Amino acid sequence: MITLKTGRDVDAMRRAGKITAAARALAGEMVKPGVSTKAIDRAVHDFIVSQGARPSFLHYQGYPASVCISINDQVIHGIPGARRIKEGDIVSIDVGAYIDGFHGDCAGTYFAGQVPEEVRRLVQVTRQSFFEGLKMARAGNRVPDISHAIQAYVEEHGYSVVREYVGHGVGAEMHEEPEVPNYGTPGHGVRLIPGMTIAVEPMVNLGGAAIRVLQDGWTVVTEDGKPSAHYENTILITRGDPEILTPIQGDGGDGM
Ligand code: MF3
Ligand code: CO
Repeated sequence: MITLKTGRDVDAMRRAGKITAAARALAGEMVKPGVSTKAIDRAVHDFIVSQGARPSFLHYQGYPASVCISINDQVIHGIPGARRIKEGDIVSIDVGAYIDGFHGDCAGTYFAGQVPEEVRRLVQVTRQSFFEGLKMARAGNRVPDISHAIQAYVEEHGYSVVREYVGHGVGAEMHEEPEVPNYGTPGHGVRLIPGMTIAVEPMVNLGGAAIRVLQDGWTVVTEDGKPSAHYENTILITRGDPEILTPIQGDGGDGM
């Protein structure tokens, strides 16, 4: 079932989204050579709690942390730990916060120091693919119109889209219907209606689309070991332009 949010629901989603975005910004600022991923997780956890919210990911299906931190060939769901960020790494930060009955969910990929041009480009294209999808996020269009716009932009640039994981409705639950894949055929499928809130989240590989899950049961990595980037916002479908519910001031969202 797709839940349509009332005005009051949307107010709560804005509160959740604002905290979630601020948590992502805080984590992104910590992305520097020498910083451990568990230090970022701690800071994010403490920030979310200080705002009177709850980290959406913590204990979700047994997930042990408040943020997913995925480095280089890690696509998503990297678990924070003792690993330290190195010069030249790209670091994807994915975070969610829950307050007043609703979740926010957003992600971005950040640069640690100097990153090779080829990899910077991957991150920029991943971010822009979200905005290409966003242009289609209008009442009367269909979910796969968003999906197709993302896929076309990514593939035009010679990269590949991950298929096993998709965007999703967000609201009282972190994962609601509909699924929002990053690939698809326009003109068919679920119609977008004002009041729908969805997380649009391209996961883009520099090499092939194939992924696998590590022994820890969470970390998704590229099969070919090449880098991958992620970018995500929670958005509201309106009668006009879509609203980003997880906005970051002057967002590069990508370490720029
Ligand atoms: N942010 C992820 C998503 O968009 C969910 C993280 S899974 C968790 O679907 F287990 F880490 F919470
Ligand atoms: Co999500």
